[in-house]
Amino acid sequence: MSGIFIVFEGIDGSGKSTQAKLLAEWFEERGYEVVLTKEPTDSDLGKIIRKLIVEGGIIDGSRVSYETEALLFAADRAEHVKRVIEPALQEGKVVICDRYFYSSLAYQWARGLSLEWLIKINEFAIRPNLAILLDLPTKESIRRIKVRGGATEFDKLVELQKRVRQNYLKLAEMFPEMKIVNAMASIEDVHKDIVALVEHELL
Ligand code: ADP
Ligand code: TYD
Repeated sequence: MSGIFIVFEGIDGSGKSTQAKLLAEWFEERGYEVVLTKEPTDSDLGKIIRKLIVEGGIIDGSRVSYETEALLFAADRAEHVKRVIEPALQEGKVVICDRYFYSSLAYQWARGLSLEWLIKINEFAIRPNLAILLDLPTKESIRRIKVRGGATEFDKLVELQKRVRQNYLKLAEMFPEMKIVNAMASIEDVHKDIVALVEHELL
């Protein structure tokens, strides 16, 4: 496949959607055709996931079992890969995705599921050229989420986010395409670090 596939990962509020958008603009200014996308997706399946899992209780644990949760995220991803990501890469486009299978590994592993099983059910997910892990302390991510509005049960969220952050750092040791970027700096400085990384690794 001839395109470039980049994904953003990190705990909630780490700046993924902000940085994905800036990187998409950076590529577009240089004449690339870009597909900016995300998971869970905006498809009907993605909407079910948001309703059942994200709104249903990503903090306390969802109304469905953790196994179902993992399988739903994987099913949404399977459609995303086949219908959106692979076709765009075949057309030589840059695909930038806000969350990918590493999110399933980090979050559903934090729920207590087996990492091996999670890797297995996500085996179809083609590996990106670069997975950018926006890393920052939980305290700062919670501060940003409070400013953005939305979640409310902050104490429980802190505990989950701490586990997820540690999981991401372990995943970065397992997957060579995953590179850690310090997300504590200003939006502009984080963007500059990401551009430097992209130029060094991919262009
Ligand atoms: P995510 O997509 O990872 O949940 P967002 O990009 O939505 O994160 O960012 C969460 C909030 O923090 C937003 O209100 C955003 O404007 C703000 N934000 C993003 N990056 C930074 C940064 N480097 N410094 C301060 N605030 C930031
Ligand atoms: P998202 O809307 O990207 O949250 P945010 O913008 O706050 O980072 O993702 C919704 C939630 O779904 C988020 O808490 C992470 C979780 N999630 C999983 O648990 N597993 C997955 O495979 C994916 C894609 C997301």
